[in-house]
Amino acid sequence: MTQSQLRTLRDIPEVMLPEDYPTNMGPFLAKMYEEHGPIFRANLFFGEVVYLVGPEANKFVLSTHRQFFSHHEGWGKWFGVSYLFGNGLLTMDGEEHDQHRKMMNPAFTISYMDSYLPIMNRIIRERIASWAEQGEIDIYEEARKITFDVAAEALTGLQAGPEVDEFREIFVNILNLGMVAENEEDYNRRMAVLQTRLHSLLIPKIQERRAHPTSDVLGMLVRARDEHGNALSDEQLIAHTNILLVAGHETSTSLSAWLLYQLTQNPDYTKRVLDEQWSIFSGNEEPTLEDTKKMKVLENALSEAERMYPPVANGPRGVSEGFEFNGYYVPAGTHVFYSIVASHLLPSIFTNPTQFDPDRFASPREEQKKNPYALVGFGGGPRICIGVNFAKVEIKAMVSHILRRYKLELTPDQEIIQFYRGTGLPLNGIKMRVTTL
Ligand code: HEM
Repeated sequence: MTQSQLRTLRDIPEVMLPEDYPTNMGPFLAKMYEEHGPIFRANLFFGEVVYLVGPEANKFVLSTHRQFFSHHEGWGKWFGVSYLFGNGLLTMDGEEHDQHRKMMNPAFTISYMDSYLPIMNRIIRERIASWAEQGEIDIYEEARKITFDVAAEALTGLQAGPEVDEFREIFVNILNLGMVAENEEDYNRRMAVLQTRLHSLLIPKIQERRAHPTSDVLGMLVRARDEHGNALSDEQLIAHTNILLVAGHETSTSLSAWLLYQLTQNPDYTKRVLDEQWSIFSGNEEPTLEDTKKMKVLENALSEAERMYPPVANGPRGVSEGFEFNGYYVPAGTHVFYSIVASHLLPSIFTNPTQFDPDRFASPREEQKKNPYALVGFGGGPRICIGVNFAKVEIKAMVSHILRRYKLELTPDQEIIQFYRGTGLPLNGIKMRVTTL
């Protein structure tokens, strides 16, 4: 088909987003896929967006045609990540991205996780120690404390305590500001205050690393040189640190909370998870990397939580070069989403997609393997989440510590709501009663 024969942007089926879109995003978009196919468009409050849904579309955006799509236009400008946190790995394109990713990759290989596990284990152990005494906890809030402390110490060498607490609070305030600011002026004023505070905390950390290099990711970045022998600027280091701290905790917080929620709702499966734990451990030992690799029953539950509650609902991209998809021509300058949350709920790919059924990932079913790019909670292709190993090891360690120590039960009379703003979260938190085993 020549470009002139292709149907244009205006011909792409248009759908109206319902009022409950933030709380019913996945089911709604999956339904639109059934009605209109893998490409449709809608008006979001910040403009028109073309949705690309399903394994084929994911493969198109993430792999075969990825050069047509810009992270900088999508995450950076459209989602405002560059404005909020600077230009880090998530918001870079092309050559610049490849260079920076190459610098960071060594710190995120699976074997490197061995060096993070002692930090993860200590922080998890210390953070959960008081749960029984508290009696009732909000698992979403508790998970955030753990994942932020872990990211801060493992990636930037900051020790848990008042300083890390202040960092965490600044990030939470930045992420929530859109929901609480009274108007644009108020938003900009409060954002400037938060960013000034963040920079004033980060600059001395960077200077410290320059004087005394450390083995964490920030230390590695401070030592890195490009092919001309140039070091990264303060601005670049701040942006990388910000993105690693935000991307490294917000998503893991939500996924671990949803996983633990589903485990409380599925006691039969949880018993199997626990049996697996007791086949690996005899008491309260701390998991090693080898131990986490043996946790297959838990891993399938983790994949199922990733499928049902993907922390990133849709991957935003700017179209940098016009492309053809499914008979339509989408011009440069358009905003598109590859829809993770919708792709995960397609009944043609995942049997009974609304049901928590981790065995779909076990042999012989292995539903995700029948269609590459069907399960994309961590993205895919060359720009797959750099922290995928980090997150999975951390969440497995967290669940392993918690389940071998405590029984968790959902407290009654609460409404559990899956909600999406930038990333997904349980809108009212998830309150649980904790008793020692
Ligand atoms: C449950 C946890 C996590 C989930 C679900 C998640 C999800 C994702 C997704 C979907 C992408 C790709 C976005 C796209 O294609 O538009 C991504 C990229 C990224 N993630 Fe994660 N992430 C998680 C944890 C982490 C952690 C722990 C870190 C850092 C330690 C991290 C750092 C990043 C970075 C830097 C990128 C950009 C990579 C690039 O473009 O080269 N993420 N993540």
